[in-house]
Amino acid sequence: TAITIVLGTRPEIIKLAPVIDACEQSDVGYSVIHTGQHYSDELDTVFFDQLELPTPDHNLAIGSGSHSSQTGAMIGAIEEVLLDESPDVVLVQGDTNSVLAGSVAASKLDCEVGHVEAGLRSFDRSMPEEINRVFADHAADHLFAPTEQAAQYLREEGIPVERITVTGNTIVDAVTCYRDLAAEKSRVLDSHDLSPDEFCLLTAHRAENVDDPERFSSLLRGVAEFAARSGFDVIYPVHPRARDRIDAFDIDVPDEVRLTEAQDFLDFLRLESTARLVFTDSGGVQEEACILGTPCVTLRDNTERPETVAVGANRIVGVEPAEIVAGAREALDTPTDWENPFGDGRSAERILDAVGLGPVVSVEGVTG
Ligand code: UD1
Ligand code: UDP
Repeated sequence: TAITIVLGTRPEIIKLAPVIDACEQSDVGYSVIHTGQHYSDELDTVFFDQLELPTPDHNLAIGSGSHSSQTGAMIGAIEEVLLDESPDVVLVQGDTNSVLAGSVAASKLDCEVGHVEAGLRSFDRSMPEEINRVFADHAADHLFAPTEQAAQYLREEGIPVERITVTGNTIVDAVTCYRDLAAEKSRVLDSHDLSPDEFCLLTAHRAENVDDPERFSSLLRGVAEFAARSGFDVIYPVHPRARDRIDAFDIDVPDEVRLTEAQDFLDFLRLESTARLVFTDSGGVQEEACILGTPCVTLRDNTERPETVAVGANRIVGVEPAEIVAGAREALDTPTDWENPFGDGRSAERILDAVGLGPVVSVEGVTG
């Protein structure tokens, strides 16, 4: 096998779909290992079906657990597959425990490691994602930085320049491929009785927010207060982790916030593109809102996507209600004609090119 792709969670499935597609288009031999970090249908199979991805060659079915027991179990199981398949390159994407496990297992063997979405930094080491991305970057032989800013962070950490390629983010490939289909096919607005530009979309699932009942309640209160004052509906597709915490902490969800189940990709893209504002603590949602021209209000104290803030698409407001309301008001008044900083939608081709497995059509570097 030339390439083994390791994935395990919703965002990795979505952001690696264009790479899998590019392997198919260029006849590159590849295999897919699914760690099983995400296993609920709404975070997993729904995306394989909708994005028409082949069933993974290996499903390790690791499931949930503490960070080290989950990561450790993945490392051992990934190693077994890699010993058997001896790929030239192992690709991981992003900053989850599946990424940490894939890069550790591959770097201990005679495989090159390619990190898709390398060089993101929140500079907040209390986040598990920050630890994972730093480890993965320093284990990697090929670092696919989505932007020049990300490449700059890598150079500042002493990573040799010849390992770094600025490719753009594969989420642009995915959004470009699916946004029109979402507009055509999705019935999500009707089924939730929503009108374009008259509602806000909320997602919150990150450990630092939903595992802390004070922070979780505070962010919900802030979004609800904005909804009450502005008259916008708010719809919140709930990640299973957040659902679990709402139940466990008996969180009082304000009436202004309408909970619904996690959405499939087309319905979620449709919600993001037609919402007046997006409130989120997700990394991928900050990027997608920026790409789709929807203002974003980020319910965190920092971001590893500073490009979204720099172009005027995103505001980092934390979880205090007054800050959320002020940030949302400001976002409403901002023009939405910013430039997408995440590339031209041909990142997957550049990634194959950079590992010497050439794309169908040769493409220039994203920054020219
Ligand atoms: C993980 C990533 C996070 C990413 C998110 C994407 C890590 C450390 N975190 O967070 O960076 O933003 O995925 O969505 O890798 N659960 C289910 N069904 C599932 C999976 C999880 O019900 O299919 C519930 C379980 O209660 C589980 C909890 O969610 O304990 C957390 O799952 P876990 O995989 O540890 O992290 P995520 O919060 O999903
Ligand atoms: N997403 C989705 N349905 C939802 C919420 C999110 O399809 O109900 C998609 C979204 O389009 C984006 C990705 O999931 O591509 C983001 O994943 P998530 O927020 O779970 O993780 P993060 O990006 O924060 O790691």
